Amino acid sequence: MVNDEVVVTPWEVKGDIDYDKLVRDFGTQKIGDEIISKIEQIAGEVHPLIKRKIFFSHRDLDWLLSEYEKGNKFFLYTGRGPSGDTHLGHLVSWILTKWFQDKFGAELWFQMTDDEKFYFKDGLTAEFTNRMAYENALDVIALGFDEKKTFIFSDFDYAKTLYPQAAKVAKKLTFSTARAVFGFNESSNVGQIFFTSMQSVPAFLPSIKEGKNIPCLIPHAIDQDPHFRVCRDILPKLGYYKPAAIHSMFLPGLKQGGKMSSSIMDSAIFTTDTGEQIEKKVKNAFTGGKSTAEEQRKTGANPDICSVYNYYFILFMWDDNELGDLRKRCLCGEILCGDCKKILENKIKKFLNDHQKKREEAKKRLDKFILRD
Ligand code: TYM
Repeated sequence: MVNDEVVVTPWEVKGDIDYDKLVRDFGTQKIGDEIISKIEQIAGEVHPLIKRKIFFSHRDLDWLLSEYEKGNKFFLYTGRGPSGDTHLGHLVSWILTKWFQDKFGAELWFQMTDDEKFYFKDGLTAEFTNRMAYENALDVIALGFDEKKTFIFSDFDYAKTLYPQAAKVAKKLTFSTARAVFGFNESSNVGQIFFTSMQSVPAFLPSIKEGKNIPCLIPHAIDQDPHFRVCRDILPKLGYYKPAAIHSMFLPGLKQGGKMSSSIMDSAIFTTDTGEQIEKKVKNAFTGGKSTAEEQRKTGANPDICSVYNYYFILFMWDDNELGDLRKRCLCGEILCGDCKKILENKIKKFLNDHQKKREEAKKRLDKFILRD
């Protein structure tokens, strides 16, 4: 039996996702050509992740940009639930966040929700998720964020600052809303029910620190939207702006369907993977190829269902001409999956080799980025 159930929540993503339907169901706005032109006009260029509409949806980005044009600058907020090593899917939002920091001179507030992963993942200790927060922070730093404008904090280690603010959110949030949004039930632990209050805090913390309202932009994949729906309802009640957001699609797993997920080992490429591991995972990737090379040479393959092609589209081939050429060669059977995988394998190896060096260097600078109290 085919299981075609589609699930998109902060804790589970599976199935064949129809992103247009998600925009309708979640009540977000599609990223259209008009907003892309606006970004280009202000920034002087548009990042391929936006141009290709991998960031396909938003909330109030038009408002945020018009505030920016009036001189009301925004800050960036994003995060990570440190349940294990960082994988390539996580980098998608962080790469765009870095671009926004460079182009708009924005501060970044980066939350490590070690508490969340402790509450939600059976078998993970609080000590482990806390340790992973600092491991994952190395990946953030390795991407080149500005140390003067970037603040990374773990919920456990910055709790004295975060908790009083989370309490203000929690007091405005009923159990029945949390249950309706997140699907909690009688056996959900109470940490889970409280948690979304913690994820709301960085969306207004800089406003508290500055003593005035500052617009906030949150780049993230669409799975996190339920948190920010709740957050956007509550923040005006506390006197703050609703945060704006820009939502990405999921980098797929190398096996067919769903998102790249740390829990399916061979499907995810981690930033700490060795060359050998990368080689093995890419070799086993799901493609749109035919069952024999002969048939594929005759009838071509299907890039639109191919996870390898998706990797090029999302992260590893931002030159439109190069990608267009590869697509053509795939469709007419000129390039076979083995060769196409080899190109991807080399691109990923090169990227991660470089990233791993920067990650090592980041160990020396970690303290410059971390907030604790
Ligand atoms: P987490 O750790 O599940 O994911 C971190 C970020 O990566 C995005 N993401 C992906 N993007 C593209 N392709 C994928 N396969 C993929 N898998 C995950 C997530 O949407 C997220 O942006 N609760 C959060 C941590 C958090 C946070 C935030 C995230 C706290 N504050 C503010 C975004 C914005 C979490 O567990 O993310």
